[in-house]
Amino acid sequence: MVRTAVLPVAGLGTRFLPATKAVPKELLPVVDRPSVQYVVEEAVRAGLSDVLLVTAAGKAAIEDHFGRRLDLEAALAAKGNDADLAVVRGLAELATVHAVRQPEPLGLGHAVLMAEGHVRAGEGFAVLLGDDLLEPDSTFLGRMVAAHERTGRAVVALMRIDDPAALSQYGVATVADPLPGAGPGEVAIVDLVEKPAVGSAPSDLAVIGRYVLPHDVFGVLHRTPPGRGGEIQLTDALRTLAQEAPLVGVVLDEPRHDAGDRLGLLTASLAFAARRPDLGPALVAWLSANTDDLAARAAAATEGAS
Ligand code: G1P
Repeated sequence: MVRTAVLPVAGLGTRFLPATKAVPKELLPVVDRPSVQYVVEEAVRAGLSDVLLVTAAGKAAIEDHFGRRLDLEAALAAKGNDADLAVVRGLAELATVHAVRQPEPLGLGHAVLMAEGHVRAGEGFAVLLGDDLLEPDSTFLGRMVAAHERTGRAVVALMRIDDPAALSQYGVATVADPLPGAGPGEVAIVDLVEKPAVGSAPSDLAVIGRYVLPHDVFGVLHRTPPGRGGEIQLTDALRTLAQEAPLVGVVLDEPRHDAGDRLGLLTASLAFAARRPDLGPALVAWLSANTDDLAARAAAATEGAS
């Protein structure tokens, strides 16, 4: 049974400075919710009821977002603002949210190891990286959980990336034919490499930040030496597991937004707002009416930069 979602949220978010000097990047809004809320909601949709945030100094506001806020609730109740009251209370009821500190930034594998004391012995768990945003109604993680329950193997989300330079920013999988009884989009992962040099990637299948892992991965992480960038890499631990028996890769067949990147956060906001009845039509109308002006601004910016 898989019930825990581990969310590594200890990063400094330097790509969004100065916005992230005092505000964790996970709380930057996509429309009107912080990006991390979409990730927790995704985990809940996949049936996970227990969320462990792996945090660091300066990140306590993320826990606050998922906790009770009695003064705000009282103020909303006094004003008779039942709609906002339900939203604020609902956030605290979404899942059981715990936090553990990662004392030093020693890598994603090290962050996942911080969950060892929290996940029950023998139980699998999911890892969700907040930089990767799926659609607000995505059921992809549910498919990954089902694949883990069927096979007992580590299950890794994969995405095809054509651009070799972009591919080198990811873990990249070597894949083989799917395991017998595999579900749609599944492949067997026989090897992995973290951020291969441009031109040396073994395939065009990049790891994106969704994993469903067996408890055994903790033991492997303990034995995993620092890898790329001197950090303990989750990809290296998964590589060790893949050498014992193939892992399950599930190839993403829906949009994914990179909220760890300025352009990705913008496009996520546009894509998510466009599907909202209260915002979509007005947004699309504004974009259509202002396309020429936007193009002129971009042309001037290109000229100014050259
Ligand atoms: C991490 C993983 C990498 C994966 C990526 C997905 O890298 O180490 O294997 O492809 O997330 O977003 P990061 O982007 O945190 O450097």
